[in-house]
Amino acid sequence: MGSEVWNVLVTGGAGYIGSHTVLELLEAGFQVVVIDNLINAYKDLNSEKPKCLLIVEKLTNKNVTFIDCDITNINDLRDVFQKHTFSCVIHFAALKAVGESCQKPLEYYKVNVAGTVNILEVMRENNVKHFIYSSSATVYGIPEQLPLVEDMKTGNCTNPYGKTKFMVEEILKDLCKSDDEFSVISLRYFNPVGAHSSGQIGEDPNGIPNNLMPYIAQVSVGKRDMLYIYGNDYDTPDGTGVRDYIHIVDLAIGHVKAMTYQKTCNPMGFKAINLGTGKGYSVLEVIRAYEKASGKKIPYKIVERRPGDISASYADASVANKELGWTTTKNLDDMCADTWKWQQNNPNGYKN
Ligand code: UFG
Repeated sequence: MGSEVWNVLVTGGAGYIGSHTVLELLEAGFQVVVIDNLINAYKDLNSEKPKCLLIVEKLTNKNVTFIDCDITNINDLRDVFQKHTFSCVIHFAALKAVGESCQKPLEYYKVNVAGTVNILEVMRENNVKHFIYSSSATVYGIPEQLPLVEDMKTGNCTNPYGKTKFMVEEILKDLCKSDDEFSVISLRYFNPVGAHSSGQIGEDPNGIPNNLMPYIAQVSVGKRDMLYIYGNDYDTPDGTGVRDYIHIVDLAIGHVKAMTYQKTCNPMGFKAINLGTGKGYSVLEVIRAYEKASGKKIPYKIVERRPGDISASYADASVANKELGWTTTKNLDDMCADTWKWQQNNPNGYKN
């Protein structure tokens, strides 16, 4: 198994994390088929592929197969598996807005939970046994202790989005118990930010950004007047929320390492692995770093706390270091510099 070329199915490969991961997989010599329903990706009318994947192909000088497919349609998934043979599935496709998940819980359970079950079922029908899951630090709920370690209790989630990530992890554990050849790595992401160093692929949120870094980025190019900081009375050094921001390229490489580990060591069963830097930064620290990288002033106003937010979250990343041989290489200044480069080059995202 070690030397053959793996053909990988990447669901949601036209999204922010997906597109950066596809680039790193191609660079590492994997063959990639992407499925995506384009709900959160830009495609020109007369083009066969979403724009981010055309850019990935140009940057890597390699080809990606793209199929417009929705994971909630199991027969469409069956067609994909009939046309292609896969060694592994990396599953990103999901809805991801915390606030929206409270308004539309059924959509979140349908896509994130039922959609994942569809993929697992079709994998089983086709005897595909390697699965890498896009999980989140949100599965830890309100942290009892920091840093967050993989064997801590999970599940005390405060919103439907977080619950879907927790539920799928439970489903994957049960599946691994029922089939001792099944291999799952559940990558628990902390806060992915930044963009590829080319400045040509990056985060392109629909509408008002929900997350801190893309919001700051839009303020920096004059698309929004100011940033609203959700509370400065948390139990943190400066009172603003603390998070473990991780550069998107480090995160993408984490997936390549996880898959290489599956390919070479063939670990069985369910394994959860944090992908974070192990260091937390406050909202004010992120603003200062972004101002330094961009030379732009980021006006802000302190407002009420955002419901459901926690004061601080950061990873213990030692399992990823030891088991995958993975460490982050980029710091907060790199994250801000690359976000600024992408935002400056593409003030309107891929629609430019
Ligand atoms: N923040 C602001 N203003 C904003 C946006 C965010 O002050 O406009 C603050 C938040 O209060 C928080 C910090 O910036 O203190 C980071 O907020 P993000 O929304 O960027 O990230 P979260 O940590 O809240 O959420 C992220 C992912 C979720 C995931 C969660 C836990 O976006 O999908 O981490 O893993 F569920």
